[in-house]
Amino acid sequence: MRSHVLSCFWLFALGFACLLTQRPPSYARIDVDTAHLGAPISPRMFGVFFEDINFAADGGLYPELVKNRSFEFSQPLTGWHEIFHMSAAAGRDMPKGEMDMRTDAPLNTSNTHYLHVRVYEPGYGFFNTGYRGMGVKRGAEYLLSAYLRSEGPKTLRATITDPSGAVVGRGTLQGFGGGAWKRYETVIKADATAAKAHLNLYFDEKGEADLDMISLFPVDTWRQRPNGLRKDLVQLLYDLHPGFVRFPGGCIVEGRQLATRYRWKTTVGDVSERKTLVNRWNDEFDYRPAPDYFQSFGLGFYEYFQLAEDIGARPLPVLNCGMACQFNSNETAGTEELNEYIQDALDLIEFANGPATSPWGGLRARMGHPAPFHMEMLGVGNEQWGPRYIERYRTFAAALKAKHPEIQLVASVGLGTDGDTFRAMWQAWRQLRPDIVDEHYYMGPEWFLANSGRYDRYDRSGPKVYVGEFAAQTAGIGMPNNRNNWRAAISEAAFMTGLERNGDVVQFASYAALMANADAWQWTPDAIWFDSLRSYGTPSYYVQRVFANNAGTRIVPVTPVAENGLYTAATLDESTHELILKVVNVTSAARTAEIRLADTKISGTAKVTILESADPNAENSFDRPDAVSPVSSAAEVHSGSMAVRLGASSVNVYRIPMP
Ligand code: AHR
Repeated sequence: MRSHVLSCFWLFALGFACLLTQRPPSYARIDVDTAHLGAPISPRMFGVFFEDINFAADGGLYPELVKNRSFEFSQPLTGWHEIFHMSAAAGRDMPKGEMDMRTDAPLNTSNTHYLHVRVYEPGYGFFNTGYRGMGVKRGAEYLLSAYLRSEGPKTLRATITDPSGAVVGRGTLQGFGGGAWKRYETVIKADATAAKAHLNLYFDEKGEADLDMISLFPVDTWRQRPNGLRKDLVQLLYDLHPGFVRFPGGCIVEGRQLATRYRWKTTVGDVSERKTLVNRWNDEFDYRPAPDYFQSFGLGFYEYFQLAEDIGARPLPVLNCGMACQFNSNETAGTEELNEYIQDALDLIEFANGPATSPWGGLRARMGHPAPFHMEMLGVGNEQWGPRYIERYRTFAAALKAKHPEIQLVASVGLGTDGDTFRAMWQAWRQLRPDIVDEHYYMGPEWFLANSGRYDRYDRSGPKVYVGEFAAQTAGIGMPNNRNNWRAAISEAAFMTGLERNGDVVQFASYAALMANADAWQWTPDAIWFDSLRSYGTPSYYVQRVFANNAGTRIVPVTPVAENGLYTAATLDESTHELILKVVNVTSAARTAEIRLADTKISGTAKVTILESADPNAENSFDRPDAVSPVSSAAEVHSGSMAVRLGASSVNVYRIPMP
């Protein structure tokens, strides 16, 4: 499937080059038929899709600074290093003690490994370097915590050091004793900024101790929540005003094998009881191996629901339907095994929406959220296809709809834009009628331009469409040299005019992938890049932001829709009583345009948002995060007419007050 996508990719390349170099007419007229409103559309159409790929969760959106805090990676000492000192007796550098992994009398049954240390000399220590960079900021506070069991040492001394070894923060955990596991914590304030800091831990008393869940966590999280999310990254999501949040993936839902599939129940409750699991993106790509990629599930289903609520979005969880990734093991649970998967889905609905008196609703309440999360949709499987999937979807749907007819079910057509499999899946879905069908497009920019009219031709009586994953690939799907440039972003904008214009069919759309750690990524392109301290949105992020912030509630007819390199869509926002017109000029020539509104009584000042760059290769970066970003201005409308300039290669949004 992916090689098919790759070959299609080059077919469009020539067309795109022609489009950018052709000389379009310098004047355009755009007619908006404000007198004939079209179908209602969802103002929640544009949302986000979060997957833990590119180290987006641990060390990213979930800002734990310690890698492998629970010693549950398959190499349990991953991320931890002993501190060596010159030993006069040995004549070489030696640690002042010894460490090993133990499993007897563990912290709990899902966290079975822990660190055992023997301190031979005061000053025995070890350190952690975080997720490819432990970032601390001057003046910020960090909560150091650990579970300890010790009948010897009574204190654990901590320092945070910068790469030169200079100490930028200090703290002590103390008062151990009694021989039982107990959690200790202290706050460390950093007095300097360091992007690649170390957390060093020292025992200054001889003896033995056990340690687990060693955590260093920023105090200043989104909404100041303990175990909360990284503020700058949530802010970028908040600023999108996404209509929904799809989580937790993606292929990660499926797992490379069923044994390593995502199980939501292991991601809720106390963080020390969440069971660490290998991340399926650890060795998917030979060119970016990441053997240290695991999932702590500190960011679990409760946190995902809370994130959606915080940013005003609807939650759209996706669950495994008894199938591992069809690009990997293609393992399938037997039909007799499906009950467990279906029960997980039923229990999830109870966790999200059930009363606090119910078992799963009770857990949600104990975790701090007695009110329901108002889950209305559920994805059954991720990117699945074929008869085995159809059979499993049918079983799921029968059980779920019998108990929860109010939950809209999302089914997949797999990966691909057309072809036999795609058509066969749609044929099945027209009969089985899931509420929404999920399509994924990882294609070249030319494909997105050529397909802005794709949904003009879709059946209006079938299931609704969710364009669940899409992103223009400048080099090809899964290629490490894809660029997050303006050429890709503007082609996505042109395509999105077609989604909006067909909002009676296309209910939702989300760009993928959402986030990438610049020091640890596997997949490009991505909407948001971050490192241990900084973050920025790509041009594609800003396209999503401009569209999501300017979604309407009714389609308004507009002509032309895709002509001479101009792509248009118009909606009415009935809550603000504004006409919202989007015009994307993908050509390299600036144009003057006259916008004619059918209602000549419309006059006033329009709010204008423009996203543009004359350079198709323009990108944002840590140093220039706003190189391509929206600029606001105003324009006058007189008697239903507005004269505008459409910059070369620009996305233009006009919010025009209606009388
Ligand atoms: O977005 C990256 C991956 O692409 C998703 O996990 C999967 O659904 C698709 O193949």
